[in-house]
Amino acid sequence: MLVITNGRIFDPCHGIDQPGELFIKEGKIESVGTGISFPSSAPMIDAKGLIISPGFVDLHCHLREPGFEEEETIASGTQAAAVGGFTTVCCMPNTDPPVDSKSIVNWIKKRASESAVVNVLPIGCITKGRKGKEVCDMAELAEAGVVAFSDDGDSVPDSQVMCHAMDYSRDFDLPLIEHCEDKPLTNGGVINEGWVADRLGLKGIPAAAEEIIVARDLALARLTGAKLHIAHVSTRGAVELIRHAKRNGVPVTAEVTPHHLTLTQERVMNMSSGRGQLKYDSDAKVYPPLRTQDDIDALLEGLKEGVIDAIATDHAPHTQAQKKCELELAAFGISGFETAFGSLMGLLHAGKIDLGTLISKLTCEPARVIGRESDLGTLRVGAMANIVIFDVGREWQVDRSRFVSRGENTPFDGCWFKGKVLVTIVNGEIVYQDDSVRVDHE
Ligand code: DOR
Repeated sequence: MLVITNGRIFDPCHGIDQPGELFIKEGKIESVGTGISFPSSAPMIDAKGLIISPGFVDLHCHLREPGFEEEETIASGTQAAAVGGFTTVCCMPNTDPPVDSKSIVNWIKKRASESAVVNVLPIGCITKGRKGKEVCDMAELAEAGVVAFSDDGDSVPDSQVMCHAMDYSRDFDLPLIEHCEDKPLTNGGVINEGWVADRLGLKGIPAAAEEIIVARDLALARLTGAKLHIAHVSTRGAVELIRHAKRNGVPVTAEVTPHHLTLTQERVMNMSSGRGQLKYDSDAKVYPPLRTQDDIDALLEGLKEGVIDAIATDHAPHTQAQKKCELELAAFGISGFETAFGSLMGLLHAGKIDLGTLISKLTCEPARVIGRESDLGTLRVGAMANIVIFDVGREWQVDRSRFVSRGENTPFDGCWFKGKVLVTIVNGEIVYQDDSVRVDHE
């Protein structure tokens, strides 16, 4: 049992924004509102001045297990997710072995049941071994409980294979999540094609590398009627393509990451060497690359209009050895769970997004993408109690050495954020609690 009192209860998808209490019993939301009754023996959190919302749902993260445990484990990754306010995370299948069979899905589910502190929903591969050649046994993966299919980290390069996968996926009504990258065009590319790449003498990655695959897959989704979800959209052109497709009834959804909404390509440069020497910061190397302010403006417009459905972290932890090397050799990826909310709150305080849009893109909207809006991302009475309590005004500084994630690869180290997750509750249990929060027992 747990009672949260005095907070602002906020569930924008369901039109709830009111002061009141929330009572959790046997892991579920028992009642919500003002003047609700609960036993006086129930442990209590006073949420005065705080917001109580559905726990965040992340459609896109890398927990690295099995195979890359030096980067992250299901235990460490889900603890980091809890710090970030995420109560459900969908994990990508670019593990070793990749998640292309029932036995690996079952292994992840078992591992999660033993060590995860938030709900873990596995994503299965589109093609066997993520090799892009032969479509997986999707029926077997769906039966084992995957919530989507993806070869994330790579696109499916062959249009015929992708078309076949889309046809097949309709039987299960699960989305195909596509990492949109035309490899022959990005080959050897390190950061966005533009002035920063020119200045640093690096091969650039053009926006077209993303847009070519977005356009191809939208055409295939129109042809097959399959559910397509575009991962980590980063360019204005991709937003325009998706907008046009949605207007024409193509069954497509899309996500954007916090870093693509808040950082530009300039972040890769780092002038901190002291002698005015141009240096670079590999912690800002990510795929797709950080782009331009014009792209950010388009992504924000897309979010507000509903062209982009969800915000997803693409939490991609790497070891220091994989990052602290020449920029050309460094791994792509940002460890995102612990900075996602704080960085997004910067957009709120700058007046670039409103709280309702922000929270819906982190809760019911991602849940809808995987067809789970009735039980995830909601404060509905009877739903499992997956809840986050946050303070929009709390200021804090990012310190990667205190990350719970094994991946310290963040371009936000040292940044001050205004807005912090204070409590995360999964299935009725407190899995993260800021030092400033007290749970009172009678
Ligand atoms: O930067 C990235 N890192 N982008 C991806 O699509 C994959 C991810 C990873 O697995 O490290």
